[in-house]
Amino acid sequence: MLQPGSTIGMLGSGQLGRMFALAARRLGYRVNVYSPDNDSPLGQMADVEFVASYDDLDQIRDFARTVDVITYEFENVPAATAQAAEAIVPVRPGQAILEVAQHRVREKSSLRDLGLPVPKFEVIKSVEDLTNAVGVIGTPCVIKSATTGYDGKGQAVVKADSDLAAVWNSLGTKEAILEQFIEFETEFSMIGARGLDGSFTSYGPIENRHHNHILDVSLMPIAYPESARQTAEDALRTVMAKYDVVGVLCIEFFLTKTGNVIVNEIAPRPHNSGHLTIEACECSQFEQQLRAVCGLPLGSSRQHSPAAMANLLGDVWEHGEPDWSKSLENPSSFLHLYGKTNPRVGRKMGHLTYLDKSSEQAAIEVARLRAQIARR
Ligand SMILES: Nc1ncnc2c1ncn2[C@@H]1O[C@H](COP(=O)(O)OP(=O)(O)O)[C@@H](O)[C@H]1O
Ligand SMILES: [Mg+2]
Repeated sequence: MLQPGSTIGMLGSGQLGRMFALAARRLGYRVNVYSPDNDSPLGQMADVEFVASYDDLDQIRDFARTVDVITYEFENVPAATAQAAEAIVPVRPGQAILEVAQHRVREKSSLRDLGLPVPKFEVIKSVEDLTNAVGVIGTPCVIKSATTGYDGKGQAVVKADSDLAAVWNSLGTKEAILEQFIEFETEFSMIGARGLDGSFTSYGPIENRHHNHILDVSLMPIAYPESARQTAEDALRTVMAKYDVVGVLCIEFFLTKTGNVIVNEIAPRPHNSGHLTIEACECSQFEQQLRAVCGLPLGSSRQHSPAAMANLLGDVWEHGEPDWSKSLENPSSFLHLYGKTNPRVGRKMGHLTYLDKSSEQAAIEVARLRAQIARR
C-alpha cells in the first residue's frame, strides 16, 4: 500500500490528470507529470513536470525513478513507453488493457470474445475490404480508424450512396473497423473502479447526450430497466477482471429502443461522463483511481444527489470571457475550469455540474446556466 506522502506519476497532463491531482493532493500525495505539453492543465499544479515526448524512453525511465507508481489519463500510451516504465515501477492499469483500449479492432474483437454484445463489425485495410464489408454489414454503417480517434474524429457514417473510395481516402489510415449502425435510444456509460485486491465498485448508468460528436451533457441517476443496468455492470466486471485492471475504467454503451445493451467502447481511465461524481458521490472517480493505484481500500461510490454535467467548450468563449458570476452565485452549480488559455471551438475548457431534485431537472438547469454564462 502506497501511503499518503508517496508520489504518483501521471502520463498525460490534461484535465483528467488535473482532477486526479486535486483528489491526490487532498490525501497528501505528490503528483509528478509527464507529457509533451507546456503550461498544461496538470503541469500547472504538479510537483514535478517532465516535458518530453512519450517516445523518449530515457526520459521516461528518469521520470519513473522519481515516482512510486505510474498511472495515465489517456489510453494512447505507446507500448514501449509503458514497458520502459514498468521495468522500474508498477504501471496501473497495466499493459494488457492498454493494448486493447488503444486499437479499435483489438478492442471489439476481445469484447466479442468475452461474450459481450458488440455491433457487427469487419476489419478494413483497403477500399476492396470496405466494399466487401459494406455488402456484409449493410448501410448505414460507421467506419472508424483503428487508432487515435476521439470525440468523433477519425470516423464517418457510410450510406448506401457513399463514394467508398472517397470515404476510405478521407480517413487517411492503414486500418479501420466498419461497424453496423446502431439505432440507439440513448447512450450511457458505466464507470468501474477495481482495487489491487480485486475489490470492485461502480457508478451509473450515466446518460450521455452528444452534440457534434462531443459529449455535451451527462446525467445520473437515470431510470433504465434493471436488466440493462445489470448487463452493463456485468460487462464492466468482466472486462476489469479479465484484464486485471487496477484503476478506473469506463464503458460506453448504446441502449436500443427494444431495451438491449450494446457495448460501444472502453476507456481504462476516468471519463468525462464521470465528472459529476466529484460533487454527487461520496467518493469521486478520481479519488477511486488514486485509491486503486495506491492499493488503498476503494471509496463509496454512493450518489447523494441527482446531478447533471455540461461541458464548457471553447465555443462558450466566442463573444468574450464568459460571465462566471452566473454560476458562482448559484449554490447548486459547481464550476470547473481546466486552466487552458486558448479557447478553440470544440476544445474542452471546463465543465459545470448542477445538483437538483432530479437529474432531468439538473440537466435543464445546467444547460440554462451555460447559455447564461456565454456572452452574446
Ligand atoms: N456503431 C454506431 N452506431 C451508431 N452511432 C455510433 C456508432 N459508433 C459511434 N457512434 C456515435 O459516434 C459517437 C462517437 O463514437 P465512439 O466510437 O464513441 O468514438 P470516440 O472515440 O470519438 O468517442 C458515439 O458516441 C455515437 O454517438
Ligand atoms: Mg466515445
